[in-house]
Amino acid sequence: MARVYAIISGKGGVGKTTSAVNLGVALNHLGEDVIIIDANLSTPNIGIHLGAPIVPTTINHVLKNQAKIEDAIYEHESGTKVMPASLSLKEAEKINYKKLPEIIKKLKKITGHIIIDCAAGLGPEARASIKAADEIIIITNPEMAAVTDALKTIKLAEQLHKKITGVIITRHQGKRVEMSLPNIKDMLEVPIIGIIPEEDSIKESHVMKNPVIYTHPRSKASKIYLNTSKRILGHDIPIEVPNRGFFSLIFRR
Ligand SMILES: Nc1ncnc2c1ncn2[C@@H]1O[C@H](COP(=O)(O)OP(=O)(O)OP(=O)(O)O)[C@@H](O)[C@H]1O
Ligand SMILES: [Mg+2]
Repeated sequence: MARVYAIISGKGGVGKTTSAVNLGVALNHLGEDVIIIDANLSTPNIGIHLGAPIVPTTINHVLKNQAKIEDAIYEHESGTKVMPASLSLKEAEKINYKKLPEIIKKLKKITGHIIIDCAAGLGPEARASIKAADEIIIITNPEMAAVTDALKTIKLAEQLHKKITGVIITRHQGKRVEMSLPNIKDMLEVPIIGIIPEEDSIKESHVMKNPVIYTHPRSKASKIYLNTSKRILGHDIPIEVPNRGFFSLIFRR
């Protein structure tokens, strides 16, 4: 049975799309069949991250019954499948989010993993993605505002009886001003499944319009995204804490 994950944060700009794209390509690299869906219809980014900002048929057309699901699926050069959203503001109007679970149900028959890149906030757009998913992966940064929003997201997902697969802390710099990893763990009370460092390789990968695990496979961020995807598959790998001068392995899940 296919697994369906919503990549969600509450707070905007924390690294959801970066994580969705890299986890998707990492799972694909590990031999899994993956579809990444852009469910951030108001400010879609998946196409931009993967170098195909404008495509003829999108999830918007499918949600509006203007196209078949298979016509909105594209293949990244890695083999990872992607369903982008339209960049046009007009095409984001009058969307019926209720059709999202129907799309997911059909996709479950043709793939092993469906990764839903969610909108920021916890409004109707983001809630529709949580409802359509079976599992929730929370993205946060090591700062109080982001972690507070992550906690709200966890509470909402629990109310909706969704499985919380874990939290990924991104843009970790190991600075004193950051919230400490044990504090984040205590506050969220869900497993940490990856700690991604703040790295120029990520920004360079965005300029190169490809996932970092593709453009900078030897970078720390890339290796940690790959290990995070292995943990999602159930591998028992200790959590690497970057930015300590070496990869210290202090956490067990
Ligand atoms: N590990 C990282 N190191 C450096 N920069 C990063 C890292 N992760 C993400 N960023 C930067 O943070 C910004 C936001 O990333 P991203 O678009 O993935 O966030 P998002 O949560 O999807 O945002 P939105 O809520 O707007 O959809 C981007 O400019 C990206 O380059
Ligand atoms: Mg995004």
